[in-house]
Amino acid sequence: MDPADGLLDHPYDVYRRLRDTAPVHRIAGPDGTPAWLVTRYDDVRAVLADPRLSLDKRHAVPGTYKGFSLPPALDANLLNMDPPDHTRIRRLVGRAFTTRRIEALRTPIRRTADQLLDALGPHGTADLIAAYAAPLPVTVICDLLGIPDRHRLDFRVWTDALVAPDPAAPPEAAKEAVVALLGYFTLLLADKRGEPADDLLSDLIAVRDEGDRLSEDELMSLAFLILFAGYENTVQLIGNAVLALLQHPEQLAALRKDLSQLPAAVQEFLRYEGPALLAIRRFPVEDVTIGGVTIPAGETVWVSPAAADRDPARFPDPDRLDLSRDASGHLALGHGIHYCLGAPLARAETEIAVAALLERFPELALADQEVHWRRSLRARGLVELPVTY
Ligand code: HEM
Repeated sequence: MDPADGLLDHPYDVYRRLRDTAPVHRIAGPDGTPAWLVTRYDDVRAVLADPRLSLDKRHAVPGTYKGFSLPPALDANLLNMDPPDHTRIRRLVGRAFTTRRIEALRTPIRRTADQLLDALGPHGTADLIAAYAAPLPVTVICDLLGIPDRHRLDFRVWTDALVAPDPAAPPEAAKEAVVALLGYFTLLLADKRGEPADDLLSDLIAVRDEGDRLSEDELMSLAFLILFAGYENTVQLIGNAVLALLQHPEQLAALRKDLSQLPAAVQEFLRYEGPALLAIRRFPVEDVTIGGVTIPAGETVWVSPAAADRDPARFPDPDRLDLSRDASGHLALGHGIHYCLGAPLARAETEIAVAALLERFPELALADQEVHWRRSLRARGLVELPVTY
């Protein structure tokens, strides 16, 4: 038997076996091509910080990595780039994606959360993914980018077709959504150029660094990356956090008594059940030795933040949710130069979502003890989260 057998169905059991017996192991990656999977905390952290592991697909041995195709205008994004291009864009973006901008979103996030909870009524049964965890982040992204209210319905339809496709939808649906979104962002960028507003896109258009600025393609790629990186991950983190609480009533009760513990709790939710089973694939620019295994230049390397964050060598009793532990140092938001740009926003959104939910529904409980995870090598998230309240 291969130690990676069962990865889709029981990721944490398989990660344990891999960490113990094959910490740098040959698998078929999410695109079906052969790759290496790295699961121990120290190795994962080291890879994420190692400049010899490139995110640029041009370093892949030709024909070995299929990947996921995006139109060329969108391919030049931060998660396909190395320094110095990455450094340049990240610096420009950093000037617009500020703490002030994220702090300013707190009130609208809470307002949206409250509106979604209002729609549920005082008691009943609901799927919290569809009714709460999904609509909240998409609204936050619209607020962040500055998408006008009248376009939000269309935007949500395209975004869902792209990021969270209906399994029954034809394969062209995602491609059509990319085309629709590309067209939409082109018009939106032109609007914001003509009439800047108080939003991230207007700020991104305006940023200058010693005469340098973001090009049209770079702006477009960033808008898409924020959608891709920011939407689905946040849906999943909110869902995973609520599930973890409902499965651990004693910790839920303690948190309810003192919601000021939420920022630390969110770090533990990220460690215990973070959405990123895999980070972005990397390609060694030269032969590299990881955990004693030499990986030839150009082969595909996947690291698992989720496996690393359950490594007992780093976090004692790692399979236990413990909201009082110090979970900082987890790798659920990455590490090194590609550390999640939206990390403060993702944490703020999850804190607010959980607080609003707990304050509203003192009797919140799982409606179904059987949990349905999505079958994915890359992402840990629930298909649905039926609750009673
Ligand atoms: C719970 C929610 C989130 C999780 C778990 C998450 C996770 C991650 C991880 C693991 C990386 C690093 C990937 C790697 O190095 O391979 C990353 C990068 C990134 N994330 Fe997030 N993310 C979340 C939310 C967000 C949000 C809300 C945004 C934007 C609004 C965002 C934007 C980005 C961007 C732009 C990058 C690329 C940064 C770079 O390459 O320099 N993420 N994220």
